[in-house]
Amino acid sequence: MLEFIDTHAHLYDVQFDKDRKTIVQNAINEGVNKFFLPNINSETIAGMFELEKQYPQNCFALMGLHPCAVKDDFEKELAIIEKNLAQRKFVAIGEIGTDLHWDKTFWEQQKEAFSIQIQWAKKYKIPIVIHCRASFQETIELLAPHAGEDLRGVFHCFGGSENSAKTIIDLGFYMGIGGVVTYKKSGLDSVLIDVPLEYLVLETDSPYLAPVPHRGKRNESSYIPIVAQKLAEIKGVSLEEISKKTTQNALNLFQMA
Ligand code: NI
Repeated sequence: MLEFIDTHAHLYDVQFDKDRKTIVQNAINEGVNKFFLPNINSETIAGMFELEKQYPQNCFALMGLHPCAVKDDFEKELAIIEKNLAQRKFVAIGEIGTDLHWDKTFWEQQKEAFSIQIQWAKKYKIPIVIHCRASFQETIELLAPHAGEDLRGVFHCFGGSENSAKTIIDLGFYMGIGGVVTYKKSGLDSVLIDVPLEYLVLETDSPYLAPVPHRGKRNESSYIPIVAQKLAEIKGVSLEEISKKTTQNALNLFQMA
């Protein structure tokens, strides 16, 4: 069976409370056997650790404060993240970044939280998983001075232009490709034609952004082969090739190769 990695899945989310085991098993049955779990804030940590404990071979917790969770109390939240980072190993810091789509109230705090967490990634020599929405240029400005040999990562849920793909490649970062690639109006297919497979990893962002034909419903990791199939069509290569390359890229990204 072909193997796949879901590099971004919030499987600890309350939307999976009733059938989490089935969801994980369904994905494993489809060949999706590794799940990277990006954190949101202090409230999601316990559930994420619990899932990782149940599936130590399959689930890997990330640690970080999500930009949409940056509020008045962000310093308190960051202190909890920092404490967790000091207590054990994590494969990456995430998800972190900036978001100007949902709420601009805490923009200054968002930038500060992102910069602080970039420093932690460098300190622990682990990659970062970036969320950026309606804030690509701003994110690049904050990231560019740090990117390089000692800081790598992925732009999760990439949905940008050819230019932004070039910028990401120049920084040595990966792009996370998910359900959006199956949406007719995304325009992502024409951008990805020219992006080398070496820079792409697969993700679902479960429970959000389900691919067609599940669009609008709850997303789950067993849908990764749908995204992979679409990518195979765009790139004009076999599904096997997508499986092999994206799995290797994901292992490289998380320093597990
Ligand atoms: Ni996410």
